Amino acid sequence: MKNILITGGAGFIGSHVVRRFLKNYPDYHIFNLDKLTYAGNLANLRDVENLSNYTFVKGDITDADFIQRLFKKHQFEGVVHLAAESHVDRSIANPMEFITTNVVGTVVLLNASRECWNGNYEGKRFYHVSTDEVYGSLGDTGYFTEETRYDPHSPYSASKASSDHMVRAYHDTYGLPIVISNCSNNYGSHHFPEKLIPLAINNIQNNKPIPVYGKGENIRDWLFVEDHAVAIDVIYHFGKNGDTYNVGGHNEWKNIDLIHLLCDIMDRKLKRNPGASRELITYVKDRAGHDLRYAIDSSKLQRELGWKPSLQFEEGLEKTVDWYLANQAWMDEITTGDYQNYYEKQYQLR
Ligand code: NAD
Ligand code: DAU
Repeated sequence: MKNILITGGAGFIGSHVVRRFLKNYPDYHIFNLDKLTYAGNLANLRDVENLSNYTFVKGDITDADFIQRLFKKHQFEGVVHLAAESHVDRSIANPMEFITTNVVGTVVLLNASRECWNGNYEGKRFYHVSTDEVYGSLGDTGYFTEETRYDPHSPYSASKASSDHMVRAYHDTYGLPIVISNCSNNYGSHHFPEKLIPLAINNIQNNKPIPVYGKGENIRDWLFVEDHAVAIDVIYHFGKNGDTYNVGGHNEWKNIDLIHLLCDIMDRKLKRNPGASRELITYVKDRAGHDLRYAIDSSKLQRELGWKPSLQFEEGLEKTVDWYLANQAWMDEITTGDYQNYYEKQYQLR
């Protein structure tokens, strides 16, 4: 068995990555290290939590002593690092948390990997999962490539940019075997309902206003989360040492057009009159420093590693809506706060 550490596995994307690795690699023992912040939800992994090649570890990536002990004990051969503070709006309200987790936490993991591997890098890999937001904002045309200059605007994107630089610095300075990917906006099941799509689904269901920032003209490039998990799998196993890969859906939507599409799907699913959910759209104060447009050129990943997105957006969004409607209990546990008691029930009382 190879011991592989996945950080942030109780979050949205991390839970899909943990599930995929457990399913595809029975010869890996997956250690999911997560602090269980408000964004971490062990219910995301209820279907796999009893597998014999899965271990959940509650812990903080910024705790250097703890992380060092963990590496010493389990001798991880690979790290897939997703743990982060991930919400732009929260970073505007409280930037410090983002520096601590995203920058310091990443460096703690780099140090522990370096110490554990001690120059023996054969078969080892540190994979840092990052975001397209490090590239800043596009005008009406053009795409982010792997060569686009970093130009982050929010405390979140600046902290992710900083962590990307540290990961590259450990490769260039110490020869640490690393790979980085920068992905566009994900959507799909188990997405925490403070992000646009799950928030809108939940509000539409409950006949609450759908808050649209500014004029709703900002553009995001949406990728189905399971396609991102496939990309992470492919890059982890076949990406070139020291390289960066952009991941994206070639699927740009203005926020307001996306919300219109979502409202129409929800009207159909909830058997409401056509147009009823659109009545809930409410324009609110814009996000400070709101990037206008993100769009990823993922041709390197497609050309070199043969990855491509599997779903059209309309199909993926419909599938996503179906998942939320069929999993009301998941949403209720979050809105009531019950999901935060799950760890005590499942792990500490055993
Ligand atoms: P998320 O907020 O849903 O999950 C983050 C997870 O990290 C949570 O389970 C949380 O408990 C855990 N965590 C936070 N601080 C921690 C700490 N100090 N120690 C240990 N665990 C901690 O985030 P997500 O949307 O799943 O994003 C995962 C990664 O992918 C992030 O690095 C993010 O920057 C990146 N990313 C996200 C998107 C997106 O659209 N969501 C797109 C591109 C890249
Ligand atoms: O591009 C990748 C990034 O995508 C990731 O790195 C981040 O971790 C992830 O959270 C996401 O960031 P965004 O800021 O793009 O996602 P969010 O869902 O918060 O917002 C999507 C767009 O919708 C953005 O233009 C802001 C807008 N918005 C968001 C919310 C929460 C609204 O109009 N209303 C809202 O209530």
